Amino acid sequence: MRTTVGIIGAGPAGLLLARLLHGAGIDSVVLESRDRAYVERRQRAGILEQGTVDVLRAAGAGERMDREGLRHDGIELRFARRRHRVDFPALTGGRSVMVYAQTEVCKDLIALQLADGGPLLFETEALAVEGAGGDRPRVRFRHGGAGGSEDVLECDYVAGCDGFRGVARRAVPDGRTFERTYPFGWLGILADAAPSHDELVYARHDRGFALLSMRSPSVSRLYLQVPADTDAGDWSDEEIWDELERRFETDDDWTLRRGPITQKSVTPMRSHVHEPMRHGRLFLAGDAAHIVPPTGAKGLNLAVGDVVTLARALVHRVATGSEELLDAYSATCLRRVWQAERFSYDLTTLLHRAPDATPFDDRLQVARLDRIASSRAAETDLAEAYTGFPIG
Ligand code: FAD
Ligand code: DHB
Repeated sequence: MRTTVGIIGAGPAGLLLARLLHGAGIDSVVLESRDRAYVERRQRAGILEQGTVDVLRAAGAGERMDREGLRHDGIELRFARRRHRVDFPALTGGRSVMVYAQTEVCKDLIALQLADGGPLLFETEALAVEGAGGDRPRVRFRHGGAGGSEDVLECDYVAGCDGFRGVARRAVPDGRTFERTYPFGWLGILADAAPSHDELVYARHDRGFALLSMRSPSVSRLYLQVPADTDAGDWSDEEIWDELERRFETDDDWTLRRGPITQKSVTPMRSHVHEPMRHGRLFLAGDAAHIVPPTGAKGLNLAVGDVVTLARALVHRVATGSEELLDAYSATCLRRVWQAERFSYDLTTLLHRAPDATPFDDRLQVARLDRIASSRAAETDLAEAYTGFPIG
């Protein structure tokens, strides 16, 4: 099999890249190890930055998002039993975010690709990227599980969009990794309960962080900071609701709505950047190149920024023969990636309680939150980063 751009992975990065290339008349083949139902059901991110929303609309994938997504003009910070609202449009010249789940973004992009795009092959696992340093890179892959048949995809370029545990990163020799793990994770639940607040609530509490989010007007998504090695099954539904209630407590009469919990899982937290994001004709994008802790919801949005930059560079190469933008790809993406790494780290350390935190650390966190609540400059810094850094 042969194509111009071989794309490994049908997460948001690979699917959107295929769409952007298709729109520019460049053919691609997408290889995805999992089946379609799995990719469409995998619960992950929920918040789209303004720039991501604009890109999805321009790619023709905005119709259902605009109908069903929930535009949010702010978030609430909750600490010391108090509430402070951050008003995004007022602080950023009109920017906002959209609550629209990653599952739905993927469903929309898959439907479009299957309707009029190049091949999107599910249950097809890339085994290795070969010859990335030369002119004819290849992806060796296996179709149909462990006993399946092996084949080779010959490409002009390969995009490694295969997430944190993919194979593409291994084909970048002499890379360097910058990493940090955190001694806590997030226990996330989906519940059939109307959201208890009309915007997201980020809560700092002496018992640990909690986040109130949503998927629709009738489905709540909530997270609790838990120790890193927690098994989701260790928490009963009632214990989860009781703990959420404690961490969201306020001095006013706010109440948490409960409902049946339909899904529960624990997400580990790490920061990870692999540099460079390119070797020869292989380009890494999204989680294949970098991970952020989820606080602030940057992961999916970073993946979108990478593939927009990559698509632009590939289109430029095909149209003009110039490799200039491809050569700049890694450095261009990494500038934005490190700003998101910084923001996600700051928000994580602002709101989570480390196992060895001292009363001094607790007071500092509250002082940092007080600063955001009382200084327009500090609040603007948060609002600009939350609604998204410019792409490219
Ligand atoms: P992925 O979505 O990981 O997609 C990679 C794709 O490649 C997958 O479909 C995978 O099956 C496929 N693949 C892997 N190896 C191969 C192979 N060898 N051959 C073929 N295909 C392969 N971000 C937030 O902003 N908020 C959140 O709440 C949040 N929660 C998360 C929870 C979890 C458990 C995880 C893992 C991530 C979470 N993230 C969250 C991060 C966000 O979901 C990711 O940043 C986003 O999915 C990145 O998209 P991607 O396309 O780069 O990678
Ligand atoms: C969600 C996840 C996040 O990491 C975040 O900061 C906000 C919302 C969510 O899954 O809804």
